[in-house]
Amino acid sequence: MERQADAPAGHDRLRFFRRIGLEDGWPGTRTKLRPTDASRFDGGDIASTFARALCERGALPVKELFEATETFALSRKVLRGPVVADLCCGHGLAGAFFALMEREVERVILVDRERPPSADLVIDALDAVAPWASPKLEWRESRLDRQTLPSGTAVLAVHACGLRTDTAIEHAIAAGGPFAALPCCRPHRQHPAPQSLKNALGHDVAIDVHRTYQLEENGYVVAWRDISPVITPKNRALIARRA
Ligand SMILES: C[S@@+](CC[C@H](N)C(=O)[O-])C[C@H]1O[C@@H](n2cnc3c(N)ncnc32)[C@H](O)[C@@H]1O
Repeated sequence: MERQADAPAGHDRLRFFRRIGLEDGWPGTRTKLRPTDASRFDGGDIASTFARALCERGALPVKELFEATETFALSRKVLRGPVVADLCCGHGLAGAFFALMEREVERVILVDRERPPSADLVIDALDAVAPWASPKLEWRESRLDRQTLPSGTAVLAVHACGLRTDTAIEHAIAAGGPFAALPCCRPHRQHPAPQSLKNALGHDVAIDVHRTYQLEENGYVVAWRDISPVITPKNRALIARRA
């Protein structure tokens, strides 16, 4: 496992929207973005313009914007290549940021068993600021285990609940591409991590240790990073590049 010195827990500013601080707790708010929140994104860059468009549409809860963008900031240098898949994507915002910000990304496969109304608001906002980006998005309304990904696909899973994170790992290994996840609820009873590790380390750490060994045995180098706990307590990120 690779250790990164530049990722202290409890950073006081966001990594991606650097002008937004964490001290007032706003980035962890569960209520939806509001048009008045647009003034918080006062940059002239395309990401800020997109964020303002999301605010104007009340597209999704505040914390989900920052879960997506902070995971994007942590993983964008590792999830390289023409095809990125955002698995259990929900609104698909993390994938939309790859389409918007990464020139080399030609195709973003968005997989979720249900396409929520917020997904259309994300695409509408994207079309308003970067109409060239949404044609890269390919929505697949489907269960994860029914999907096959193109060889080399870079796989992202933001809060893919429970064993869905493990299914995403299997997809990355099968495709042979890099992998990043922000796991959320760990399935304590069903997960195959050894019970002795669960007892000694706590279930959540033991399950991510098990995932790390699985990835490293399959030719990856894994880094444990984190996004701010102000945004979510489910804040550990596993970032895995091909060795
Ligand atoms: C906690 S949400 C995360 C959504 C999004 N990635 C985010 O960060 O907001 C988990 C998502 O997984 C989807 N999901 C659950 N089981 C699934 C399955 N078997 N196949 C595909 N999607 C699934 C749900 O519909 C939901 O959108």
